[in-house]
Amino acid sequence: MKTLAVYNVKGGVGKTAAAVNLSYLAAASGHKTLLWDLDPQAAASWYLQTRPGEAPSKSQWKSAAAIQGLIQNTAYDKLDLIPAGADNRHLDIWLRKDDGAGVLKQRVKAMAADYDLVVLDCPPTLSHLADSIFAAADLVLVPVVPTHLSLRALKTLIDYFKESGLPRSRLKPFFSMVDRRRLLHRLLLEQPPKTMRDVCGAAIPYASAVERMGEYRAPVEVHESSSFAAQAYRELWEEIEPLVR
Ligand SMILES: Nc1ncnc2c1ncn2[C@@H]1O[C@H](COP(=O)(O)OP(=O)(O)OP(=O)(O)O)[C@@H](O)[C@H]1O
Ligand SMILES: [Mg+2]
Repeated sequence: MKTLAVYNVKGGVGKTAAAVNLSYLAAASGHKTLLWDLDPQAAASWYLQTRPGEAPSKSQWKSAAAIQGLIQNTAYDKLDLIPAGADNRHLDIWLRKDDGAGVLKQRVKAMAADYDLVVLDCPPTLSHLADSIFAAADLVLVPVVPTHLSLRALKTLIDYFKESGLPRSRLKPFFSMVDRRRLLHRLLLEQPPKTMRDVCGAAIPYASAVERMGEYRAPVEVHESSSFAAQAYRELWEEIEPLVR
């Protein structure tokens, strides 16, 4: 079993859209997949139309079996979900690494008998929870909007990995919300800066099909499989799949 975190310290860059679409594609290509929504905004849980209000409580975090009891089926074959709720705002405190190193990692590893892939949809934070996420993940997929501030956020993350002794090879950036009408987007895609040297070849376009996930409450592949956005997520999944096999 492998663990893929979709993470960026920046908000609103397409983490949840990627987590939901890649989880769906992983399941559709035969991997038994668990999407774990860690964000109190619970957007991934909402997109997948799960029952609200059943995020792990403080006491449930103490037991792998209790967490496993919260797993919900989704409408899609081979795709399950652990929903988020407002309680997730406490995770920074509940999962402090210094009192119980790697609780998240332990809970994720407990899923190994039942899943091939766990996808973590992460809130935008560089806090204790982020440390737990980095400890648990085999690969940290980072959506980067082609702008200077987004690149700066990626640099912060790369520096943080270095300081913390985490391998940079675990970080995999991809361009997200790309608008090719914008000169800066085109320039950065044509000549990615050094921080993006291992960027994925697939880039996710800025597309209304992704926005419409909120109307359909479903992955783009389900409602608009012929869109450019659906194709881009398929290409991204093809690149990621060998890294999380
Ligand atoms: N490729 C895209 N094209 C157009 N809109 C997008 C795209 N990706 C995401 N969006 C929209 O941008 C908003 C933020 O996307 P999303 O929730 O995936 O980002 P996020 O990084 O998870 O945000 P947060 O940091 O709040 O968790 C949503 O309204 C979503 O519909
Ligand atoms: Mg999100």
